[in-house]
Amino acid sequence: MTAPWWRDAVIYQIYIRSFGDGNGDGLGDIAGIRSRLTYLRDLGVDAIWVTPWYPSPMADGGYDVSDYRDIDYRFGTLAEAEELIAEVHAQDMRIIVDLVPNHTSDQHPWFQQALAAGPDSPERARYLFRHGASSGGPPNNWRSVFGGPAWTRVADGQWYLHLFDAHQPDLDWEHPDVRAEFESILRFWLDRGVDGFRIDVAHGLVKHPDLPDIETDHEDMMEPPDRTDHPHWDRQEVHEIYRGWRKIADSYGPDRVFVAEAWVAKPERLACYVRPDELHTAFNFDFLRCSWHADALRAVVDCTTEALDAVGAPPTWVLSNHDITRHVTRYGRASTRGGGSQHEPHGPVDVGLGRRRARAALLLMLALPGSAYLYQGEELGLEEVEDLPPEVLQDPTWERSGHTARGRDGCRVPLPWSGFRPPFGFGPVDTRPWLPQPQRWVSLTAELQKREPDSMLDLYHRALRLRRDHPALGEGSWSWLPSAPGVLLLRRSPGLVCIVNVSNAPTTLPRHERLLLSSEPLQDSVLPADSAAWLEVPGVG
Ligand code: GLC
Repeated sequence: MTAPWWRDAVIYQIYIRSFGDGNGDGLGDIAGIRSRLTYLRDLGVDAIWVTPWYPSPMADGGYDVSDYRDIDYRFGTLAEAEELIAEVHAQDMRIIVDLVPNHTSDQHPWFQQALAAGPDSPERARYLFRHGASSGGPPNNWRSVFGGPAWTRVADGQWYLHLFDAHQPDLDWEHPDVRAEFESILRFWLDRGVDGFRIDVAHGLVKHPDLPDIETDHEDMMEPPDRTDHPHWDRQEVHEIYRGWRKIADSYGPDRVFVAEAWVAKPERLACYVRPDELHTAFNFDFLRCSWHADALRAVVDCTTEALDAVGAPPTWVLSNHDITRHVTRYGRASTRGGGSQHEPHGPVDVGLGRRRARAALLLMLALPGSAYLYQGEELGLEEVEDLPPEVLQDPTWERSGHTARGRDGCRVPLPWSGFRPPFGFGPVDTRPWLPQPQRWVSLTAELQKREPDSMLDLYHRALRLRRDHPALGEGSWSWLPSAPGVLLLRRSPGLVCIVNVSNAPTTLPRHERLLLSSEPLQDSVLPADSAAWLEVPGVG
């Protein structure tokens, strides 16, 4: 029996607002995805994950859903979504959609009914409405991930919980209606042929029944504390929900997959989400948070694979997504550690160095066992746009932090496809993208890079083709070989070695029969600093 596709797939994340705009309203849409499917197939990815496309007031870019069974009019129609699913399959790819179960939009009919029904009504019981503290303040001291208190008071005096924006009220997962509703939503999309779901904030659904205060005053979702009794992150009770969901997915066959967005303290905690009767996979954010340092990278790979092997789940590797500073920029800073863009200190960026390291990191990521996620635009080497004018910022973080954290818009700028001036082929010629694209991206368009033999896009093409064709890559055995300080030497069987020079001095390639691919041009078997190569080596094992 062959292993299910998702155990070693390369999955491309489409942040729908910024991928391709078919109708010229400045926002990406389904038409924009459909017209670029050939690009994705030629790139060599196995699947796409599309961020939320449901009707939404867009208070958080679509992560505030008002109807889970339809498509936002700005993105298209349900019929177009069904056509996209069929076309993706016809191109021999798969499609994963984004499920947002922790909260709805405040415009969702349930929340509107809850507001209308008044305090202590059954309608309010689907959310977390509470009376305020005797001091007159909110029921507890929880903070929103986007800044400010996690509670908002409604006109009749009750408060409701929102771990994110005030337009994203948290559901009460103890309520049977909530559980039944999401099981039905899963079936709705599985019936339409989607291959899986990315689960938003999978570690946040269940809250401590007493909603007790939290001892620390700042709760960063991306850096959760290492404890098992946190009042709202990574609680044991979430696992029962996922066991129920797994049964539903399995009833549609072995090829439907879940991937959890769970920010947890360590790989052992992540492994709990992917036990055999729970979710299939989970993003491994430790790799993305890891600094550009050989020992640190080696330790993350070891801890992750060990913890996930113990439960039989494949690891996943990811370097960027729509919530964090693009890795070209992270790797171009003096301090390369970190994932969260919102509260990170900003240092000067050497974008050239960042791109060079990003090229090397790609070869490392794609040589590791398991599956990998690419975030749209990383194949073009896009950097974080850190100079967006404040008046265009849309991430709720900007307002909720009192203009102290710019938020995540810098990694969400619409892609440059072609041409010499904005919108760079993102939409029809006179389109004004919802976030302005920097003129400097004129040299990074997909059209231009397709013709440049050593462009970032070319490296992605070649690496993805080799990963698909070479028997040693993807799932399978692997081991570290002894190496010089600052150098990683990863052996895959049969006959492949990935060498990554994370140090700032050149190193010598090990004995090999053939160079398969390198992130920089090589001379005389010397691998320069911040670069990587895949080598064919003699012998098996
Ligand atoms: C997840 C999403 C993020 C969103 C948040 C609230 O972390 O990736 O974009 O803002 O959940 O839904």
